[in-house]
Amino acid sequence: MLCRRREFIHLKEDKTFYITTPIYYPSDNLHIGHAYTTVAADCISRCKRMQGYDVHYLTGTDEHGQKIERIAKSKGMEPLEYVDGIVANIRKLWEKFLITNTDFIRTTEPRHEKVVQDLFQKVYDKGEIYKAEYSGWYCTPCETFFTERQLVDGKCPDCGREVELLKEESYFFKLGNYAERLLKHIETHPDFIQPESRRNEVVSFIKSGLDDLCVSRNTFKWGIPLPFAPDHIAYVWFDALINYYSALQENDLNPQKGKEKFWPATVHLMAKDILRFHAIIWPAMLMALDLPLPERVFAHGWILLEGGKMSKSKGNVVDPNILLEKYGVDAIRYYLLKEMNYGQDGLYSEEMLVNRINTDLANDLGNLISRTVAMVQKYFGGVLPEPSAPEALDEELKETARKSYADGTEKMDKLDFSNYLAAVMRLIGRANKYIDETEPWVLARTEANRPRLGTVMYNLVECIRIALVMLHPTMPTLVGRVLPQIPLWENDTQLTWEEAAVWGKTPAGITLTKGPALFPRIDLKTLEVPAPAKEEAPAAPKPAIEHKPEITMDDFAKIELRVAEILACEKIPKADKLLKLELKLDDELRTVVSGIAQHYEPDQLIGKKVVIVANLKPTKLRGVMSQGMILAASDPAHEQIEVLFVDSIADGGRVS
Ligand code: MSP
Repeated sequence: MLCRRREFIHLKEDKTFYITTPIYYPSDNLHIGHAYTTVAADCISRCKRMQGYDVHYLTGTDEHGQKIERIAKSKGMEPLEYVDGIVANIRKLWEKFLITNTDFIRTTEPRHEKVVQDLFQKVYDKGEIYKAEYSGWYCTPCETFFTERQLVDGKCPDCGREVELLKEESYFFKLGNYAERLLKHIETHPDFIQPESRRNEVVSFIKSGLDDLCVSRNTFKWGIPLPFAPDHIAYVWFDALINYYSALQENDLNPQKGKEKFWPATVHLMAKDILRFHAIIWPAMLMALDLPLPERVFAHGWILLEGGKMSKSKGNVVDPNILLEKYGVDAIRYYLLKEMNYGQDGLYSEEMLVNRINTDLANDLGNLISRTVAMVQKYFGGVLPEPSAPEALDEELKETARKSYADGTEKMDKLDFSNYLAAVMRLIGRANKYIDETEPWVLARTEANRPRLGTVMYNLVECIRIALVMLHPTMPTLVGRVLPQIPLWENDTQLTWEEAAVWGKTPAGITLTKGPALFPRIDLKTLEVPAPAKEEAPAAPKPAIEHKPEITMDDFAKIELRVAEILACEKIPKADKLLKLELKLDDELRTVVSGIAQHYEPDQLIGKKVVIVANLKPTKLRGVMSQGMILAASDPAHEQIEVLFVDSIADGGRVS
């Protein structure tokens, strides 16, 4: 039985889903912060499609305004000529991120300009727009008006840059008249502004008083002329917000009947800096037009770097093209969605990204898949057996899968991507633990245990199947890359979200084949990514840890463990793995050969104190007599080795 959960708040009964991102200012410096919004919108869009929704996903570019006009002029270009090339690059970037938007609107398109003019005329005819003189401050980079009171140290309160004093004849929208209606709407539609903390901010802002909004400019030309006053152009935000509506208009360029089908938007997604435009100005405009309001406006946090928000002026932008090239689209999408906690800011650093790839994707997910495939090959010649009657441990695993689905689905619907992914990773973690608990390598020793071993293998593949379905909206190329190893589906185009809710859908009898590592581990020190997966040798499965027979204290007491100081250390020629160490134990000197050369440089070890097995029978290794053994810990895959160092005990000391 599935948990009861709240469906995505949805007024429409016909399973349509209309999602938008902000339309971006044309810039060659779109960074991974911008990509977060498109990736997040893509993730929920893909999930909703898997749930059978008819999804319309709109993104685009916001091309008018003084900023663009000035830059184009400084380059000796026409504004449109200047933005054309940039917009083409933005489209390419979204293609690289595998964004499945169903429309891309440019505010310079006739389909948009016409609607903006029509709507302006309507609001004007209703008496909601009037002419007056604007006198106040304007931040051109943010394209935002500010009152004297709102400035911080005389600068823009949002970006901290210089503002300009404007004094011009303008048209005003009677925004102040909408405060009560807006508050009422927010109160009666608790999900309208999400997350809740942001809703509270908007409510306080409205309560502090709304001024009428200047909605036209007449001191420059790059914008949409107002139909009732052609010497004025529409304020760029009034123009831009309308894109969500204009893109749905049926016209020659866009023959689909979008408006009836998709309006109003199910969710407008954006970062917190532009929430007020979407949660105050836009709904007030729609009220003035008697149009239905969007169902939800969701503001996520910012991706921050050390030193604050990424921005061109700070020179700290992280180019997504380079990251995609280096780490691949699945890993970058996963990182963005995992790192940004619900409603909070997220942090970015390349080390954090690599850590995430190594732990979640290489260690947990990648290892589960490679271990499972390797074991099915080893124990069943690659053919996945039928499961037999479940045991308590299996029921517990199934329960984890059920919870992971229920929780992951609920979090996805809340746009809480980080916790949706955490729910999937819990299942992956549980499956890895199930391997350790069921000890397939022990079961494999006894013929009578074969049915049990088969059940364990089946259950592991079942967990992988469920995790893959749920990860598909985040990592769209993953299933396609796993299929040659585990042919769970014919291809990755027909996956349904609900199939992750059902246990037992994996067809027994499929043949599993070992393949390249899905997420090769990246060296954290050099940040070097191993050669592309396809050229790699097949990944070695994580070897199971074999348990040794029980020993008594007396047995243990036979081992003499002592602290020794490393006085000298060097590589052994022609032996990649071996280091020769000269050790001091109290007043005794020893030579020990140790297989740690790939993990430590000689210089890192000199002067350190280690633990050695002092009474080990000496043995000759590569011509060197080794008198003892250094203790080191290694991970199950034997990829990482860490020598056990001792700090404050003098050499010669005993370890027990
Ligand atoms: N053109 C306006 C939006 C008009 S919508 C009718 C605009 N464009 S923008 O290009 O400056 O930024 C658009 C969006 O990019 C932000 O709202 C946000 O969704 C995203 N982000 C930009 N920087 C970001 C971060 N550092 N972190 C997360 N998201 C960020 O504003």
